[in-house]
Amino acid sequence: MPQNTTVTDSAIVILGASGDLAKRKLVPALDSLKQAGRIGANCVIVGSGRKEFTDEEFRLHLEASESIASLLHYHAGIDGLKDYLVGLGDFRTIIVFFSLPPKVYADTAAALEAEGFGKQTRIIVEKPFGYDLESARELNRRLSEHFPEEQIYRIDHYLAKEAVQNILVFRFANSLFYPVWNSGYIESIQINATEDIGVGTRGAYFDGAGVIRDMVQNHLMQMLSLLTMEAPVSLDPEDIRTQKINVLKALEVVRFSRGQYEGYRGEPMVAEDSETETFAELEMRIRNFRWEGTPIYVRTGKALGRKGTEIGIRFKQLPRLLYNSAGDLNPNRIIFQIQPTTGIVIDHTVKVPGTDRDIAQSRLDFCLNDAFGPPVVEDAYQRLLMDALEGDRTLYVSAGETELAWKVLRDVLDATAPFIYRRGRMPDSPLGVDWIDFAGYEGGSC
Ligand code: BG6
Repeated sequence: MPQNTTVTDSAIVILGASGDLAKRKLVPALDSLKQAGRIGANCVIVGSGRKEFTDEEFRLHLEASESIASLLHYHAGIDGLKDYLVGLGDFRTIIVFFSLPPKVYADTAAALEAEGFGKQTRIIVEKPFGYDLESARELNRRLSEHFPEEQIYRIDHYLAKEAVQNILVFRFANSLFYPVWNSGYIESIQINATEDIGVGTRGAYFDGAGVIRDMVQNHLMQMLSLLTMEAPVSLDPEDIRTQKINVLKALEVVRFSRGQYEGYRGEPMVAEDSETETFAELEMRIRNFRWEGTPIYVRTGKALGRKGTEIGIRFKQLPRLLYNSAGDLNPNRIIFQIQPTTGIVIDHTVKVPGTDRDIAQSRLDFCLNDAFGPPVVEDAYQRLLMDALEGDRTLYVSAGETELAWKVLRDVLDATAPFIYRRGRMPDSPLGVDWIDFAGYEGGSC
């Protein structure tokens, strides 16, 4: 997204606008964009929902600031919504955000088409996109009956994270790493996304999903694809997507384990005999020439005592020669810190000054915020809404990607009874993976 562009002549429609997301995230994001001068002349924001509001009541409900209040309007339901918009202005672009339960996505798309929302419309939907391969295919098929793929924007908020976007730049804008980015040099890849909180008030949704559907199928698969895909022929979203799809086609799960934190079954809206996993560890392989032989470990879960998302690249050991004659030299590592620290750390070996031969580990530590100051656009929704307004689908997920990700996980979903782990503590690796201590990298120069 270019930082200095301003969109004009656009309508932003929020379906389900009386809900929490509009008030907590979407309208504040639009407000920041307006204040930054990114939303310009002849733009409106129209909320729509089942409740009856006047424009003024709607603004009060949202606790809208003065800067955005004049752009906000409300229309109850989808019937007559298109005519209502026509009454507000002549819009080149209309984005329609589905802040709705996924089960009504397809019917809503049908209703929008019947209302006359056509080529200038882009619909934005949030995960979950289906529950498994079959339901995702069905959802994509039904959406495509009403809107072509290029008008469907599927959000994965991890793609809006600066540190995730930096993965492609690191890989394809540095000649240093490109030649070693393969199984000849890389011993293993570790993708970690742990949370300290439990399911909290989201039991009703989460108990029907589990962390594999909630995190692995989307966020972690996206990071994995960016990290391992071949170089795209251009930075065009379609070319990037093609390479991500090629990785997903070659990806398979070889081992996995599911866990559940103690006390999960007593959480609000969770079944007493629930076998939903709140923790998962997987070993995956990419069956292509670049990656054959390199395991990819993925770990995610809730109530693990720490919030942190990282990717670790562990390089192969050097031959047992010279400084490594005892075979105990630490191999190089690259750590992509996605959050809470955002940066990249490279572990390498140096000579201890003042000694003859002693060697030690050192870190090259790049801290994103220190190097460039806080990002101009910080919030994921600001970034994603702006991209949708500008018609840039780079950070959105295609039907093909989401279906392939479900396909990879087909035999893993709900597969075995989960083991129980203590709340607030990382369980020992059920697959015996030698995980990098990512917490030990936090802070650093950041
Ligand atoms: C969401 C999941 O997509 O991502 C949540 O539904 C999870 O369960 C969240 O907590 C994690 O996002 P982040 O950005 O806080 O890592």
